Amino acid sequence: MLSLFMPFVRFPPKSLAVSLKIHIFAMLITKSIKTMHKTISYLIALMAVLASCTNSGKIYRIAVSQCSEDIWRNKLNDELKMGTYIYDHVELCFASADDSDEKQIEQINQFVNDGIDLLIVAPNQVATVSPAIDKAFDKGIPVIVFDRKTNSEKYTAFIGADNFEMGRLMGEFVATQLKGKGRVLEIMGLKGSSPAIERHNGFMKALDSYPGITLVASLQGDWTEESAIKAIKGYQGDLTNIDFVFGQNDRMAVGAAKTLNSSHTRYCGIDGLPGKGNGIECVRDSILEASYIYPTHGDQVLQLAMNILQGKSYERDNRLMASLVTRDNANVLLLQNEEMVRQSQNIDLLHNQADNYLQQLNSQRMITMLLAIVIFVITVSGMIIVSNMRRRHRLERQAFSMVVNVPVNEEPSEATPAKEHSSITAATPEEQAHIEAGADARFLERLRMKVQEQMGDSDFSVETLAEQMGVSRVQLYRKVKTLTGRTPVDIIRLSRLNRSKVLLETTNKNVSEIAYEVGFTAPSYFTKCFKDEFGISPSDL
Ligand code: FRU
Repeated sequence: MLSLFMPFVRFPPKSLAVSLKIHIFAMLITKSIKTMHKTISYLIALMAVLASCTNSGKIYRIAVSQCSEDIWRNKLNDELKMGTYIYDHVELCFASADDSDEKQIEQINQFVNDGIDLLIVAPNQVATVSPAIDKAFDKGIPVIVFDRKTNSEKYTAFIGADNFEMGRLMGEFVATQLKGKGRVLEIMGLKGSSPAIERHNGFMKALDSYPGITLVASLQGDWTEESAIKAIKGYQGDLTNIDFVFGQNDRMAVGAAKTLNSSHTRYCGIDGLPGKGNGIECVRDSILEASYIYPTHGDQVLQLAMNILQGKSYERDNRLMASLVTRDNANVLLLQNEEMVRQSQNIDLLHNQADNYLQQLNSQRMITMLLAIVIFVITVSGMIIVSNMRRRHRLERQAFSMVVNVPVNEEPSEATPAKEHSSITAATPEEQAHIEAGADARFLERLRMKVQEQMGDSDFSVETLAEQMGVSRVQLYRKVKTLTGRTPVDIIRLSRLNRSKVLLETTNKNVSEIAYEVGFTAPSYFTKCFKDEFGISPSDL
């Protein structure tokens, strides 16, 4: 490193060293800015990656097309929702067709257009909804048919109870209750829906073995209580002395009980739902003689869906087990259900708490990450700025030292004119920095030469220097300050003092002679300046 006490430093011709240093200085600044930009870009990219990592993985979109909306289907939907607690990345989308084939077809088509990953469907009627389901299947969407069936083989899997068997068991139950003799009325579910057809077939199969039992009528309902009331009221035949009514579901059986209003008649249905006013309570309260639990098992439906989606093995035909509800087990079933509801509520609560906790954790993680990044950016930027400032000061000092410490015997020479000037406009920012660094070096070299040439002239001033450099006094001040960190006055003064020091050390001239030779008008003032600069009196040298 150069110091003020090294006046005999060998300068290469045209001060190549100065030009190199300044060139490096300009490069360093450009490079540091680039590094900083790069670092910040990397950090932003890193943040984006980390943020996306917290929400990664494929989300399976499963559509549930329900033929209608009622307590049985609500229970199933709730179980499906709860099933998602076990699986990450599952999104359920529900639609109810409100017992309308057209609406269900429309909803299924919409799901297909939305690009769902799997369709769970309970077709309202067998024939009408089938083509829409076939279409979804043909498009490669896995289809799970549940509860009700289509008339097509185009589905991935079926899950539901055996409606034929359920009808047969209810037929057996009724026949046994009637000891094989009596008048029976059937209220059927929605025409064309598979459970209505299958339950009826099963029921008839059972009654076939009991010739003493007369099936007075199979009235057409649509699964609602009102439909049973309407069917009974609209029936023209003889409905007196009915011993047993088989409602294909509990709601229709209750509707029949309300309409026939006969203390002699007994009623049974299917669904066996828990909850206020539903099948099990009706059995417990003797409104119904029996019901048959029509299982919902939404969790198993979802598990089947996930097995299909995740390429695991699965059964194509999945039969859900069910059981009879009578007065003997109704209370136990209700108690069990109460317990189940309580447990489900706890699971719900835990799930919500876990969700909240995870959310908090995620936001805390995000905040910590952001803070770490901010601290990192500040630290890195601070380090870059400090190191740049240090380098800048060092280079300024070196540039200044080179300008003011010139060998006494160096021949003054003119600086090379700025050849590259014409190409500046076409240059890239990097090339521009090169060119400017070269131009700055040449400027300083010229400045050094001018000062060296004329320092002996006591009239030599900043104004003269600026004029000779072809710039204004202010421009000269700014440029010199930027490049060396010092003023033109400093440069002239220190050049004079440095030369005087060399002369004092290498010649026999006295202090006054040397003071005049380097451009001071008063030896006393020269002595003061010399002392201020070098800490010793010129006469001590
Ligand atoms: C519910 C329901 C049940 C019946 C089933 C037949 O929507 O009507 O009452 O058992 O559908 O699919």
